[in-house]
Amino acid sequence: MQRRLASTAWHDTLVLDEVGSTNEELLADPRPWRVLIADHQTAGRGRLDRTWEAPAGVGIALSAVLPLPDDPSRWGWVPLLVGRAVAQAVRSATRVKVGLKWPNDLLACEGPGKPWRKVAGILCSATGGEHPVVVAGIGLNVHQTRDQLPVDHATSLRLCGADASREDLVLAILEEFADIERVWDEPVLDDAYRADCVTLGQEVRIELSEGEAEGGTAVDIDSMGRIVLQTSRGRVPHAVGDVVHVRADQMPCGEADRPGAARSRSSATDRAAFVDELESRLMGYPRTLRRADVGAAAHVSPDDAQRFWRALGFANARDDDVVFSPADVKALQRVTSIVDDGLLDERTALGLARAIGRSTDRMAMWSLQLVTDMVSGERIAGLDDNLARVSAQRTVSLIDRLEPLLTYVFRRNVGVAISRMVADSEPESHIGVVRTVGFADLVSYTQLVRRLSERDLAALVLRFEALASDIVSLHGGAVVKTVGDEVLFSHTTSEGAIDIAFGLLEAAERDDLIPQMRVGMAAGRVLARLGDIYGNTVNRASRLTAVAQPGHVLVDDAVAAQAKDLPDYVATAAEPIELHGIGRIEPWMLRRSSDISRE
Ligand code: BTN
Repeated sequence: MQRRLASTAWHDTLVLDEVGSTNEELLADPRPWRVLIADHQTAGRGRLDRTWEAPAGVGIALSAVLPLPDDPSRWGWVPLLVGRAVAQAVRSATRVKVGLKWPNDLLACEGPGKPWRKVAGILCSATGGEHPVVVAGIGLNVHQTRDQLPVDHATSLRLCGADASREDLVLAILEEFADIERVWDEPVLDDAYRADCVTLGQEVRIELSEGEAEGGTAVDIDSMGRIVLQTSRGRVPHAVGDVVHVRADQMPCGEADRPGAARSRSSATDRAAFVDELESRLMGYPRTLRRADVGAAAHVSPDDAQRFWRALGFANARDDDVVFSPADVKALQRVTSIVDDGLLDERTALGLARAIGRSTDRMAMWSLQLVTDMVSGERIAGLDDNLARVSAQRTVSLIDRLEPLLTYVFRRNVGVAISRMVADSEPESHIGVVRTVGFADLVSYTQLVRRLSERDLAALVLRFEALASDIVSLHGGAVVKTVGDEVLFSHTTSEGAIDIAFGLLEAAERDDLIPQMRVGMAAGRVLARLGDIYGNTVNRASRLTAVAQPGHVLVDDAVAAQAKDLPDYVATAAEPIELHGIGRIEPWMLRRSSDISRE
């Protein structure tokens, strides 16, 4: 954990087997960004002078010191935002549904129809002085079984079906703490807290000191973080107190998804509300901010914010559109901090943002389409309102499972790209890399498109894409792109590229759906940019494909020279041809030796 925290603000982290109270220990020396974690507390403290108990080794007892907002009028929001950060951390490390009881009890859901139960308690103690800080103490029930919990209305992440490690949870909490601290001088996260606060809208009783209590409906959280009750004497704010949800039994924490229920809701407003709901589940926040709010919270000028936003590929929002959330603030801070820390110049950071935006956009559409086809039970689904909603919900519920896979694949692919780059480096500096590149295209595709129904065309495109990716990767090549009727692939050796070419021709012969193919290949330097490849070698391969006979492979001199060393293939000189924009070349036709002996 300490290695993973080394590059963050949390450079002073101590983990102990046992202490009295982690909050008390840190209050004795409350330097900002200190963290203390204990496996067991012997005198854990709770809110309102209560105690906090948990057996050793099954939960998290953590305290962290954060600088308070510069503006004291924001201090009332600090315990609430700390609660919101813990909620967010639990969401990012598990798939447990959580909510907050004002001010900051974290409630979790054991399953549809079950009551909310408390999974974490938070105690925030502020100091005075010139640089005031808050010691934020979190007690989170992680692995507890039912009989290890002190009261009936408590739960643990384990009882809610999660098996996240305590280390991952601690890291997620500390990351969220650092994120909220960056913005808590401004009210940017206040609405996100309100959205998580299950107390709002409820009939409550607030128990005050000296046995007094007040009842009412919780209608808002005001600018000082106080809960506002609508009571018989009007709207009354309360800064301290113990909230009791009067009808807790009537507020089950989760409803099962009811796909059928979606059918009746199809007005434009309903659709917008549905999309908004899913988007806040995806992003972890509802839309609460305007463009200018995002820039201000991230300390980035509106122009810079706009440029990064566009590079990531998101539509230009109008000034008054409330379409952003703190997730956008975080993303903007992430990308600009890379530039501010001198790790990348701005042009490169913008380029990277563009690369990520474009690749993930394609990936998102592709994934949603696949899930939709699966939900419909058909390979190519026709879309109606109900299918759209059910598929959207299914995709969102998968996102936490898919996200780690994305990181893993990205890291792996960066590794592959590095090993290719190192292998491509030569003693002399040069532009471009040597590759054998090939285009394989489907013969008579245009006529075919005219004959096929949309559904059959979609099936053909999908089958071609899957078959091309399989064969190219089977032989160690790379698919550069597929465009409808054509795949462009590359390989570091001509031998590998030739195997791909024949693999594709044979697969097309065997497949009822896919028409014949033809392949053109050339070897030489190519320039790799923006995930594509360019240059004369690519142009040569493209023109050779256009003149190849159906079911044949036509190659340039360089590929033919390599093929001559391969016993399985024979290269025969073909008629010289004039290629538009390239000039006269003498192509070679490649055949398998086994096919020739059969003739
Ligand atoms: C409550 O719900 O009353 C708040 C409980 C807070 C417990 C945590 S455990 C870590 C830190 N150290 C303490 O002594 N208390 C907090």
